[in-house]
Amino acid sequence: RAVSKVPGLDAGKAKDIRTAGVIGGGTMGSGITLSMLFAGLPVTMVERNEEQAARGRANVEKVLDDGVARGKYDQAYRDKLANELYTITTDFNALSDCDLIIEAAFEDMEVKKGVFTTLDKVAKPGAILASNTSYLDINQIAAMTSRPESVLGLHFFSPAHIMKLLEIVVADKTSPEALATGFALAKRLGKTGARAGVCDGFIGNRILERYLRIAAHMVEEGTSPYAIDKAVVDFGYPMGPHQMGDLAGLDIGFMARKRRIAEGYKGRYAFDYLDWLAEQGRFGQKTGRGCYIYPAGARKGIEDPEFLAAIDDIRRKKGIAQKPELSADEIMRRYMAAMINEGAKVVEEGIALRPLDVDVVMLAGYGSPRYRGGPMKYADMRGLDKVLADIREFAEDDPDFWKPAKLIEDLVAKGQNFSSLNGAE
Ligand code: NAI
Repeated sequence: RAVSKVPGLDAGKAKDIRTAGVIGGGTMGSGITLSMLFAGLPVTMVERNEEQAARGRANVEKVLDDGVARGKYDQAYRDKLANELYTITTDFNALSDCDLIIEAAFEDMEVKKGVFTTLDKVAKPGAILASNTSYLDINQIAAMTSRPESVLGLHFFSPAHIMKLLEIVVADKTSPEALATGFALAKRLGKTGARAGVCDGFIGNRILERYLRIAAHMVEEGTSPYAIDKAVVDFGYPMGPHQMGDLAGLDIGFMARKRRIAEGYKGRYAFDYLDWLAEQGRFGQKTGRGCYIYPAGARKGIEDPEFLAAIDDIRRKKGIAQKPELSADEIMRRYMAAMINEGAKVVEEGIALRPLDVDVVMLAGYGSPRYRGGPMKYADMRGLDKVLADIREFAEDDPDFWKPAKLIEDLVAKGQNFSSLNGAE
């Protein structure tokens, strides 16, 4: 409940949304469209050419047809959504009437800049312009328009018509009206809106990047990726990081890492084993093979000895000493500490206003087990001093990765915990 009570948010400022536009009909554009159609909102989708437009419509109709087949609703409801509420076009001018436009084109700054330059020309005054970017700087995107106050991030999660989380990303110039509209939209779509500030990955993907990284460090040093997945699942997550990679598509992380390297990333790099998979077109479930092998039609993968052999090979080639395999408890101490430490930095920098915002993002969008409370609450329950002791212990081995968040050091020094920063919940 507290996550929707953002300090300074005035729900009364939300704009009335009667019609929406979506740019792109891929994985996310079609899911976002469906989410709005199910809420009764008319949606105009824009694709870049006729071929992609046909694919965009097919993506939307496939889910609608599945719903009929499963008896969730009848054909008449499906037809109303597909034929009356939904329109697909290649003409951006068709968006001139929309109160809200959400961009879900490629994750490429130049593409996004091009789209927002066009939106500035075609959107009516006062329309809210949002980007579903996973990582990119919303300030740069907003700067392409003459109305940066109307621009914000609306970061949906895949599949967007099912996942409950909506990160509402506030850029430097985002107006209180745009923010309030983001929260009102979340409510209307039956989603949990959480406010986030601009940084690489906002709240969720920024923390995700850290625990994927620590998982990669553990693999590189000799712990099996399958042991990590098992420990994470036994802890209460629906899946481990490698199962998640296979589900989401290993090509996505591969491209994001290439971008970071191109931008000058210099830290320790332990993702060679996942790059190895991606380079061979083993993208996970969609290609039948990734970290696991998926026999025809199977959603649950089986372990792949070739992958384990490749990991050993990479370790040898990089000259990294193999350490003894970590126990489930040791794996989880590192996995959770990585999450908590970054969560604290996210709060320290004001990207999340309170620890509870971090917890809700991780619960609603990243499968954090509810009974553990989210990573920040979990840290409080375990004892923040114990978490800090873990971080300091791990830092002896890898001081670059394990820089304790100042916020944690300060709280421990004062005998306080994260909950003390949540205000009146
Ligand atoms: P996708 O590749 O499945 O779809 C992108 C679509 O945008 C394509 O159909 C393409 O034809 C269309 N497009 C590209 N440029 C266009 C333009 N100038 N005008 C109109 N349409 C254009 O990509 P996906 O996965 O749907 O991602 C879209 C955005 O959502 C990206 O920014 C991504 O980072 C973000 N995102 C992706 C998530 C995921 O799990 N796939 C999760 C959350 C956010």
